[in-house]
Amino acid sequence: MSDKIAIIGAGPSGLAQLRAFQSAAKKGADIPEIVCFERQDDWGGLWNYTWRTGVDEYGEPVHCSMYRYLWSNGPKEGLEFADYSFEEHFGRQIASYPPRAVLFDYIKGRVEKADVRKWIRFRTPVRHVAYDEASGKFTITAHNLLEDHEYKEEFDHVIVASGHFSTPNVPEFEGFSTFNGRVLHAHDFRDAVEFKDKDILIIGTSYSAEDIGSQCWKYGCKSVTVSHRTAPIGYNWPDNWSEVPLLQKVEGNTATFKDGSTKDVDAIILCTGYQHSFAFLPDDLRLDTANRLATADLYKGVVLTRNPKMYYLGMQDQWFTFNMFDAQAWYVRDIIMGRIDVPSCEVMVKDVEDRVAAEDALPDDYACIKYQGDYVAELIADTDYPSFDLDGACDAFYQWKKHKKQDIMGFRNNSYRSVITGTMAPLHHTPWKDAMDDSLESYLQIKDS
Ligand SMILES: Cc1cc2nc3c(=O)[nH]c(=O)nc-3n(C[C@H](O)[C@H](O)[C@H](O)COP(=O)(O)OP(=O)(O)OC[C@H]3O[C@@H](n4cnc5c(N)ncnc54)[C@H](O)[C@@H]3O)c2cc1C
Ligand SMILES: NC(=O)c1ccc[n+]([C@@H]2O[C@H](COP(=O)([O-])OP(=O)(O)OC[C@H]3O[C@@H](n4cnc5c(N)ncnc54)[C@H](OP(=O)(O)O)[C@@H]3O)[C@@H](O)[C@H]2O)c1
Repeated sequence: MSDKIAIIGAGPSGLAQLRAFQSAAKKGADIPEIVCFERQDDWGGLWNYTWRTGVDEYGEPVHCSMYRYLWSNGPKEGLEFADYSFEEHFGRQIASYPPRAVLFDYIKGRVEKADVRKWIRFRTPVRHVAYDEASGKFTITAHNLLEDHEYKEEFDHVIVASGHFSTPNVPEFEGFSTFNGRVLHAHDFRDAVEFKDKDILIIGTSYSAEDIGSQCWKYGCKSVTVSHRTAPIGYNWPDNWSEVPLLQKVEGNTATFKDGSTKDVDAIILCTGYQHSFAFLPDDLRLDTANRLATADLYKGVVLTRNPKMYYLGMQDQWFTFNMFDAQAWYVRDIIMGRIDVPSCEVMVKDVEDRVAAEDALPDDYACIKYQGDYVAELIADTDYPSFDLDGACDAFYQWKKHKKQDIMGFRNNSYRSVITGTMAPLHHTPWKDAMDDSLESYLQIKDS
């Protein structure tokens, strides 16, 4: 194939795309030329941890939103690659909620095996993408940071896999500028030990709020107060944890909430989510969507309806992650390689409208999980990605939700069955709340019997 493809980002989504093309080539297909641009110095996206916050050594925004001691917040049985099981990577089945380093190792294992690193230009952020109607080609402006050299290059298709949990959404509350403590966003949270013996206030009620609060609790903070805009989280929290209405103002160290109650706090952590941010894209190519399961403007969740040579991976809110990115990457690959046809613009727009309406009608989280599982199955059915038991994967998520409700500080002590190999995961050797060492070596230790 003479086409040339640009992939922006070498996180799990971009790597899924590289693996999709490599697997086609391995089966004898004539694949296009591929260039993957990556701003960081290594692959893995958010899983490539750094202590840095703010900007990196080149003055580039730090992509990482992960932190020390981060363990998977969902069961690994929901995200397992269908073409590369945990057992293949680790040589045995492992427990169900791996820490960051273990999942990073797993992500790397598949792409090292596939030998796709050669397609990635590291330390090369994309600065701009332009589409020329007349030639039907994209021009990418990229910056080689190592040589401090900016250049342009033409492509037939562009796949945006730059993630959407890196540019923080940072609201301001009255009194922040005179607060006598630290105010930070979850994106800049790195080490819970910093908050030992401190009273912390968290704004927001989603995964960052519950997990950063839990980290701080685990590593010895004095109290956790979680402030909600819409509704409290509602788990059976430990005694030094409380949920309050939305913050109204801070004076000195005193926070006042909507019900008039107050609390003296040492630090405020804004767990207020992220923005879909594409500073490198012009208006006509830029995706503008909320963080939801049915994104705006993406046919089948991947093809930009107003320019079907432009694709986005992983832009949905995520129950499913790695295997959903795979399903999308295989689907996009097959469009580019002419194996799947893209319908007219009207049909694509209708597809998006139908998906949005279907999501809007979902009654609860269980239905949302099933909705995204069905979406993954729908894409896989049209490609040669190995099919697997999506209902079984949904079932792992349903159990996970029940386990969280039963014991929010103990849910990670459960294990589930792999839908790829059929093997039951072992229980982890140490309860999560007592496991202070999150290293790969510690996690993979087998308990002495
Ligand atoms: C705190 C946190 C914890 C999470 N924990 C889990 C978990 O436990 N389990 C799970 O399955 N998922 C988790 N996720 C979800 C996460 O979104 C996915 O696991 C996954 O990282 C998404 O992959 P991605 O490739 O789409 O995006 P990212 O991982 O964000 O990767 C995007 C890549 O694009 C690069 N990039 C961006 N802009 C440019 C540019 N202009 N030019 C070149 N390169 C660029 C970035 O450097 C980055 O490497 C978590 C997310 C967060 C924020
Ligand atoms: N251990 C882990 O694996 C782990 C840990 C952390 C995060 N994550 C992942 O990271 C991703 C992002 O999660 P997230 O929790 O950061 O973002 P999110 O799910 O988008 O949630 C954003 C939260 O911020 C609140 N919010 C937004 N603007 C606000 C404002 N102006 N005032 C008050 N509240 C406001 C929202 O409240 P409303 O409900 O009122 O809108 C919501 O509770 C998820 O995929 C999650 O799985 C994983």
